[in-house]
Amino acid sequence: METVSGMDKITMLVYLIAAILFILGLKNLSSPKTARRGNRLSMLGMFLAVVMTAFKIIDPVYVLIGLVIGSAIGAISAKRVQMTAMPQMVAIFNGFGGGASTLVAFSEYLSLNSGYQTLDFSITVVLSILVGTVTFFGSMIAFAKLEGIMRGSPITFKGQQLVNAVLLSFILIIGAFFVMALGGVSIFSQIPPWAYLIIIAILSMILGVTSVIPIGGADMPVVISLLNSYSGLAAAFTGFVLSNYVLIISGALVGASGLILTNIMCKAMNRSLTNVLFAAVGKEAGSSTQGEQRTVTRYTGTDAAVMLENAQSIIIIPGYGLAVAQAQHVLHEMATLLMERGKDVKYAIHPVAGRMPGHMNVLMAEANVPYDYLYEMDEINDDFQHTDVALVIGANDVINPAARYKKDSALYGMPILNADKANTIMIIKRSLGAGFAGEQNELFYDPKTMMVFGDAKKMLMEIVNNLKA
Ligand code: TAP
Repeated sequence: METVSGMDKITMLVYLIAAILFILGLKNLSSPKTARRGNRLSMLGMFLAVVMTAFKIIDPVYVLIGLVIGSAIGAISAKRVQMTAMPQMVAIFNGFGGGASTLVAFSEYLSLNSGYQTLDFSITVVLSILVGTVTFFGSMIAFAKLEGIMRGSPITFKGQQLVNAVLLSFILIIGAFFVMALGGVSIFSQIPPWAYLIIIAILSMILGVTSVIPIGGADMPVVISLLNSYSGLAAAFTGFVLSNYVLIISGALVGASGLILTNIMCKAMNRSLTNVLFAAVGKEAGSSTQGEQRTVTRYTGTDAAVMLENAQSIIIIPGYGLAVAQAQHVLHEMATLLMERGKDVKYAIHPVAGRMPGHMNVLMAEANVPYDYLYEMDEINDDFQHTDVALVIGANDVINPAARYKKDSALYGMPILNADKANTIMIIKRSLGAGFAGEQNELFYDPKTMMVFGDAKKMLMEIVNNLKA
């Protein structure tokens, strides 16, 4: 009978504690109020898991060198990254997670002495390499698209889905050969099993590329979230390869939470995942067509301040432009001034405002806006009709009524904030240019709409100065 050593018992206990901390961390991350605590709990869990694993390694020098270099690169880039470039960073992190799973599974196989392996081992080696490699190359394409290194709009070719289906079938067949070879049933005895793995990795690389290039525009964040889920799955498979429980649990948590987030984002855009993955919709990210020659009502910062002074209820709608202008602090200052004057001020947060999940929540938290002032779309959408001013700052797609009626629009079907139902709509942005989806916004030309043209930070500062004066 196999005995469990004292060290193994300690390892399992520490892994169990780490797993509990991950689960508690995730639970806390589900609300902005507790998100910071959630992050800390998860970090503690990861720290325990890493330290315990480092203890178990017989020759830890290389691992420690890698750990130090990797941690330094991760910490510096996380500190330096602009909030608006966060999706690219997440894409890279996902990719490296997947790549690491592939390499670990491959090296674990190579380090084995005996030819025969159990079914669960050989199957999970194949799955680690398949999912890990697809994640790595898919994420690199997503990064290149978001960073503007390659065209952001969908890249399609005839028979693309058929090619993907054929690639996947080949990978599974070759995977089956590998599993059989390790089980002692070799069909092509002259081919060493590791060669199957190399072929699987090459085909998975092509699959990663061909499955992400047809996705573009506003669908990119959904894909990044899906790739995040894949990276978790790859890690969980590698956990089986290594018989490492904490890797299985943490990988499964990442896989499941990534899938849940993907689902939430699809719902927020009123799209099915199949439609996102296969319909090749979405225009070039950031394509900003100039507005048509039609009349709009222009307001200066002074006019805007007067209008806000006279309003009783105001709903603020922050968007991507607020993040670009880094105007969250001055926005909070303005809102505080208005509240001090007895106004009812609320913030309406659209689930896909900005460029990453929770982007506006993060911005508002940076500016110390109390969480009680933030309302999700479903909570606040009925309030607009009784509101004096909907103050839109650097947002566009999330209030674009084309989403309701324009069937050929990339936005069609996406639920929007009902800014157009307010008595007055005040929009701060630099031009009549379109938002992320490249769709013109009719709301700019609505007689109820006042356009305040300029950089969000500059215009808000002007409003604040006027309010103070
Ligand atoms: P957008 O529709 O992208 O509109 C942002 C607007 O901000 C632009 O029209 C731009 O107009 C304005 N702007 C840019 N810089 C500015 C500045 N310095 N000062 C003032 N205004 C500025 O933003 P949104 O309404 O937040 O919608 C988000 C869009 O991104 C959705 O289509 C969503 O699907 C997509 N998306 C979301 C995510 C996630 S998960 N949140 C990730 C990727 C993409 P001007 O150029 O005229 O100033």
